[in-house]
Parts: sequence; structure tokens; C-alpha cells
Amino acid sequence: MAEPHRIEGSTVVVSGGCGFIGSHLVSALAARGARRIVVIDSLRYGKPENLEAGLPVEVVKHDLGFGDLAELERACAGADYLFHLAAEKHNQSKDDPTRVLRANVEGTAALLGAACHGGVKKLLFTSSLYAYGRLSGPPMVETEHPHPSTVYGISKLTGEHLTEFFARQHRIDWVNLRYFFVYGPRQFAGTGYKSVIVKSLERLLAGQSPIVNGDGQQALDYIYVGDAVEATCRALESPISGGLYNVGSGVATSVRDLVALMIRVSGKVVGVEAGPADFTAGSCRVGNVEEIHARLGFRAATSLEQGLTATLRWLEQTA
Ligand SMILES: NC(=O)c1ccc[n+]([C@@H]2O[C@H](COP(=O)([O-])OP(=O)(O)OC[C@H]3O[C@@H](n4cnc5c(N)ncnc54)[C@H](O)[C@@H]3O)[C@@H](O)[C@H]2O)c1
Repeated sequence: MAEPHRIEGSTVVVSGGCGFIGSHLVSALAARGARRIVVIDSLRYGKPENLEAGLPVEVVKHDLGFGDLAELERACAGADYLFHLAAEKHNQSKDDPTRVLRANVEGTAALLGAACHGGVKKLLFTSSLYAYGRLSGPPMVETEHPHPSTVYGISKLTGEHLTEFFARQHRIDWVNLRYFFVYGPRQFAGTGYKSVIVKSLERLLAGQSPIVNGDGQQALDYIYVGDAVEATCRALESPISGGLYNVGSGVATSVRDLVALMIRVSGKVVGVEAGPADFTAGSCRVGNVEEIHARLGFRAATSLEQGLTATLRWLEQTA
């Protein structure tokens, strides 16, 4: 079997490192002993202030799909590993699909090319459950045929293929991760759309009732950001090359149950406000997480209660 990869002492490139998950990943990489962390970020959604102070980090402001390729090559020169998280996300894809394709497809190809030329030994790409494309049915499993139904999902599936293509061309290791609904502190950087968790916790902090659309039975797979980052580091460190792993809790939580737990965690005495049913009515989006457990020994460790408490504390501090 191939040797495991070592973050300790390495130079890593993290695209999207000023964003929500990326900024937590940067802290985790520093804690694992990364010597130098180069963050490539357009700063459209993330911000350098999200990065913990005192880490060995350089931020390169670069808009993937639009920026100067020579700048990318310079940023990636001599790097050992690439974690590619930068992306225009699902909600943006409704507003500006052309930008999403350019950033997530052309930008991904440009970054992967620069990282390979720069000498990286492994590529890690963060894809999304939106690559599956379905809203209901049994837990989504890596072996099923993906059928993305959004421009964002299409761009993410394309990113997976590009990652494998570049890795094979350059004979290096690679791994693709499909994150489910990641939540936690710094989840909402100030632009774009708020998740149901942030919206509901903000309402609770303001003494208002959270809103539940429709019957509240629509269910999602929530994973705490610390767990998603642990899975990401393990996937990079593993000697296993080539693979696709769901990163989720494997648990379907209905919006009704989620909101009830948020109310309990907040300690507020409020009810729930009924909102109209929306496109999520009847949906269930949960990941099968057996493959990542079997191959990487990973299981999400943070309970929803612990994770929501940490998210609430962060919102209280930033309010
Ligand atoms: N948060 C989730 O629940 C979730 C679920 C599935 C997949 N993902 C994926 O995880 C990754 C990180 O997501 P996040 O939630 O931290 O998002 P985020 O928006 O907080 O972070 C993304 C970062 O990428 C940067 N960025 C966006 N477009 C860029 C471009 N063209 N060039 C350079 N930088 C750019 C943004 O400025 C931001 O700092 C994304 O690839 C996303 O598709 C996230």
C-alpha cells in the first residue's frame, strides 16, 4: 500500500480558505503542523478576518475563472497538497449561472492545472450533495448514477471529473468529497443567503419564533463543521487514492425536529411560526456514510445539540 500523506511540515494550498469551511480547515491544518498555508480566495464571500490570528498563512486574492493564471502558478509553486474549496455556491447559481460555471468549472481546471504544475502530491476536491441531484428517496450513495438538476450541481460533478482527470494526467493522488449540509460558527460570512440554521437562531436571539415551512417533515443531513474538517484532513492524509466519499452524519433530521432542538438549546420560551410549503416539501436529503467509515474510519462525532450550541454561542458573540 502507498504511504500516507503528511500534513505536518508541508506546504498546502487552500482555495476558499477565507470562507466558512475553509477557515476552519486552515486552523486544523495549522494544528496538524502544516508549515505554510497559501489561501487563494476572491474575498467575494469570505474574509481574511475569518482566519485565526498567528497562523502561517498567506492570502492570495484571486478570482478563479477570471484572474491571472500566472498569479495562480506562483501561488501553487512548490506546494505539497491542494484543498480546493473555493466555489460559487448553490444559491448564487440561481442568480448568475454563467459566473458559477466560469468559477467552478474553468476556475477549477485552472487551479488544478496550476497545482499539478506546482508539484502537489495529492488533490482534494470538495463537491456537494447537489451532484446527486435528487430531493427524496433513500440515503444517497456514492455508487449511484448522479443526475444533478442545478447548474451548481453540474459544476460540482464536473469538478469531480476534472480532479480525477488532472490527477491521472500527472500521476498523483486525489480524492473527491461530497459534503452534505455543513453548519457551525462562521457559517454566514455576511453576503449571500442564510441557511435555515442561521436564520432560525437569529430569530431566536431576537426573541422571535423560528419559521417552519409546510409540515416541517422535510429532512436534511447536517454535519458540524469540525467533523467535516476532520473528514477532509483524513481523506488527504489517507494513502488511498481515487475515491468519492459522502461527508455527512448519515442522519436525516426534519426541520421540525431541528427547530425544536434550536429552541431548547436557546433556552427561549417561544413557539414555531408556520410558513408556506416550499420546494422542499416532502424532501429527504441524507447521505449514506458507510464508505467513508469503512475506508477512512470516519464518523461524525458532534451531536446536533453540541453543534447548535456552538453555533448559537458564535452568533451571540457576533451580534
Ligand atoms: N456549506 C455547506 O453546507 C456545503 C455543502 C456542500 C458543499 N460545500 C462546498 O464546500 C466548499 C466551501 O463552502 P463554504 O460553505 O465554506 O462556502 P463559503 O462561501 O463560506 O466559502 C467559499 C469561499 O470561496 C471563495 N470563492 C468563491 N468563488 C471564488 C472564486 N471564483 N475564486 C476564488 N475564491 C472564491 C469565497 O470568497 C469564500 O471565501 C464549497 O466548494 C462548497 O461548494 C459546502
